[in-house]
Amino acid sequence: MNKVDGRTRVCGIIANPVEHTLSPILHNALAQELGHNLIYVPFKPEAAGLEAAVKGAFALNILGLNVSVPYKQEVLKSLAAVDEGAKAIGAVNTLVRTDSGYMGYNTDYLGLRRAFEEEKIALEGQEVIVFGAGGASKAVTYLCCKEGAKKVYLLNRTREKAEEIAKALNGTFQRDCVCAMQLAEYREIPYQEKRYLAIQTSSMGMYPNTEQVILEDREFYRCFHTAFDLIYTPTRTKFIQLAEAAGAKAYHGLKMLLYQGVIAYELWNQIAVPDQVVQKGYQVIEKELQR
Ligand code: ATR
Repeated sequence: MNKVDGRTRVCGIIANPVEHTLSPILHNALAQELGHNLIYVPFKPEAAGLEAAVKGAFALNILGLNVSVPYKQEVLKSLAAVDEGAKAIGAVNTLVRTDSGYMGYNTDYLGLRRAFEEEKIALEGQEVIVFGAGGASKAVTYLCCKEGAKKVYLLNRTREKAEEIAKALNGTFQRDCVCAMQLAEYREIPYQEKRYLAIQTSSMGMYPNTEQVILEDREFYRCFHTAFDLIYTPTRTKFIQLAEAAGAKAYHGLKMLLYQGVIAYELWNQIAVPDQVVQKGYQVIEKELQR
């Protein structure tokens, strides 16, 4: 436990429920490794109290906050400013203190970008298949467009939600990048072995529903050269198993979680977290998951 004294800076996470978050474990480990006098704690406001919570946090001189489900959109109206990426995505997960209030960022997409860089997963010129059109999907699809993906097939059970994201992002980037489709129409995507980067953003397959997978057709997985599942509980989802069995390289979402946190920590403290500290943070959350 980090020592708390009169100079301790406080950061935290706002979510409801908040009990299962790994963020306090990660951020307190980073602070400890870096010798920072900083603690990170969970906050669980009710929806009706969200605005008061953010105002109160600012009044209490809280340095920074993460925001998670269900408040990533709702919190926007309590902010003094919003970063360009977060604005385009329409969701923030990190609040950084400024003189006039908190500025909102979306380190989910920045975290995914850094995870991709580390794994040498390129987006420029790629054809990407994104599964799911919920909150996480918009950050992922935004990143794909921003980094110059040639085409993103956005597949969702509810077509309208995919269409909404496609319309917004094709407008933002002024090109026909995102093609919204109903999940069941996946066979309309040109079939070619090892052609696509596939990114799974839905909650299907997440603990305890580990037998679920968004797409059962084993044959179609042969189209993927790389598969990335945002889920990290478990780290080997059925999606990852099917992708690997079909010959794709496959990655789980723990690095994205790690880097969204690391980038938030960097924004709050205006530093670059050294690599060996990042590795330590990864070990700590990995170990926590095994508990
Ligand atoms: P998050 O914010 O974490 O992305 P979400 O907004 O609840 O989570 O989105 C969950 C995603 O999983 C959605 O794309 C959802 O599809 P719908 O938009 O059609 O609801 C998808 N999903 C959840 N259960 C599913 C199921 N049984 N079959 C197909 N897709 C499912």
